[in-house]
Amino acid sequence: MKNKLKLGVLVSGGGSNLQAIIDNIEAGRLDAQISIVISNNADAFSLQRCRNHNVPAIVVDHRDYTSRNDFDRHLIDVLRSYDVELVVMAGFMRILTKSFLAAFPMRIMNIHPALLPAFPGLHVQKQALDYGVRFSGCTVHFADGGVDTGPIIIQAVVPVFDEDNEERLAARILQEEHKIYSRAIQWYAENRLEVQGRKVLLKGNRGGDIRAQHNPPLSE
Ligand code: GRF
Repeated sequence: MKNKLKLGVLVSGGGSNLQAIIDNIEAGRLDAQISIVISNNADAFSLQRCRNHNVPAIVVDHRDYTSRNDFDRHLIDVLRSYDVELVVMAGFMRILTKSFLAAFPMRIMNIHPALLPAFPGLHVQKQALDYGVRFSGCTVHFADGGVDTGPIIIQAVVPVFDEDNEERLAARILQEEHKIYSRAIQWYAENRLEVQGRKVLLKGNRGGDIRAQHNPPLSE
């Protein structure tokens, strides 16, 4: 039997994306195993989720390290000691150094709650609401040297409504995050992702029914 893809998941907070990955693995929808979860925050609810599902997890607190490089070097050592093949950033609130990226070239995925390249960085639901966009969404991409700039694997679009606040929009986006992250990881596990410059091709993509959406609807 083929070995399962070994994931190292980096978290800082609540971990609903981590939970979705765990659930998809347990349900047999994602052919991977979580070798280690690393949290830079000892209070992260993600750690409780790991305990609930017998997923190995450790805390590596960035404040215990004198520099970003030292912190990242330690992360690399831990991930390598668990033979991690794909690093999955799931709400990890630290920026990775060049040496970390070099240690896992095109083997680090991130999820971002906006339709990149719009609204990179933090507080992105507020950015989207303040801008007045009619659609937002989420993006799974490979990490590169920039903030939320790497090659895009999959995006999901959600509508933005007049009565939305940050919380409602974030919840609508999160629902989609939980679907697309596991799918991107599954494609990676199946060796179907081919990076060509900025583009990520999905090998064997059969297309499907992808339609334009309008908000407000054209029927108005
Ligand atoms: C998600 O919105 C993710 O896109 C962003 O941080 C949030 C993490 O949420 N990078 P959770 O910890 O997975 O619930």
